[in-house]
Amino acid sequence: MSVSENQGFNTRAVHAGQAFEPRTGAVVPPLHFSSTYAQDGIGGLRDGYEYGRGGNPTRDALQEQLAALEGGSHAYSFSSGLAAEDSLIRALTRPGDHIVLGNDAYGGTYRLISRVLGEWGIGNTPVDMADLDAVAKAVAANKTRLVWVETPSNPMMKITDIAALAKLAHDAGALLVVDNTFASPYLQTPLALGADIVVHSTTKYIGGHSDVVGGAIVVNDPTLAEKIGFVQFAVGAVSGPMDAFLTTRGLKTLGVRMDRHSDNAQAVAEWLLERPEVEAVLYPGLPSHPGHELAKKQMKKFGGMISVQFKGGEAAARTVAENTSVFTLAESLGGIESLMNYPSEMTHASVKGTELAVPVNLIRLSCGIEDVEDLIADLEHAFTFIGTGS
Ligand SMILES: Cc1ncc(COP(=O)(O)O)c(C=O)c1O
Repeated sequence: MSVSENQGFNTRAVHAGQAFEPRTGAVVPPLHFSSTYAQDGIGGLRDGYEYGRGGNPTRDALQEQLAALEGGSHAYSFSSGLAAEDSLIRALTRPGDHIVLGNDAYGGTYRLISRVLGEWGIGNTPVDMADLDAVAKAVAANKTRLVWVETPSNPMMKITDIAALAKLAHDAGALLVVDNTFASPYLQTPLALGADIVVHSTTKYIGGHSDVVGGAIVVNDPTLAEKIGFVQFAVGAVSGPMDAFLTTRGLKTLGVRMDRHSDNAQAVAEWLLERPEVEAVLYPGLPSHPGHELAKKQMKKFGGMISVQFKGGEAAARTVAENTSVFTLAESLGGIESLMNYPSEMTHASVKGTELAVPVNLIRLSCGIEDVEDLIADLEHAFTFIGTGS
């Protein structure tokens, strides 16, 4: 079945790029491992397939599915989120160009931009993306080519107005990139709000099962698509067939999972808010969150990620991080199982001592799809160790 943009999200998730195999009727399209394709005479390609780096039907199916869900014309799938980001920046910037990015961007994104691409002449300015005046100043101060935002951001959970930021970037002749990893296309579609490019770590909610590393870029402009497609082909950081297959399988259930992640996180956040040990709960679903009204406008629900800061400082945060059992202490997020992270020493250790450093009294929760009573009981038990020196 082919899908149309008028169909609902879950219909597109299940069917886009997933037509049954015509010879056998296999409902799940076969996984294509072949690295090369027979030619009917020199240059006689079947359906355009020539060599696995340039094209693979399993990867193409995932790309079609990603484009259909983000509302883009083209999607490109990569071997990791950072591989996607690297290809994107190489496709769209040249030495002397500048990137303005959030001052709480994912640590690996900042490391890539500052320590790898910085060596090749790409400048950067980290700025508070929620402060549009500060962004406008930073954009104007250099030859800014890309404005790069995560919303919600990782791990400070800040919400940025995508439509306003797109206008600001466009007025300055720059492009807006939105890292949509935390929200996923089920909760938020940045291209529809005016963004030029969406990037993902598909390792997270899109894959959804913590069993595959990948990344994606989605655009709605043929000129951008051509440039990005060329780098994907010429550099070759593509997702392999098995990774593409697993990601496609995960993506089919994204909507169902995101509803549950969001409902669980909302309940956990409301519970945390009542706890005397807690200094702040950073979750856009709480009316007390400064980005709540904006999140309500640009997101369908508020997602599965929560950050928590403790009155007892670093010791309390570390104690909770190390004393849960349903929440597993591990890097990453967005899988069906709940994960606990201490960003300052784990996911964001690479930005320690920079202005992107994460407060040491903060833990980040990725709320899975388990029964929410068990998530709360697990946290309640871990809280009993605060102040005991355990
Ligand atoms: C928001 C965000 N963007 C990008 C990345 C990088 O993706 P990957 O780890 O798949 O390379 C991550 C990884 O944690 C992330 O959280």
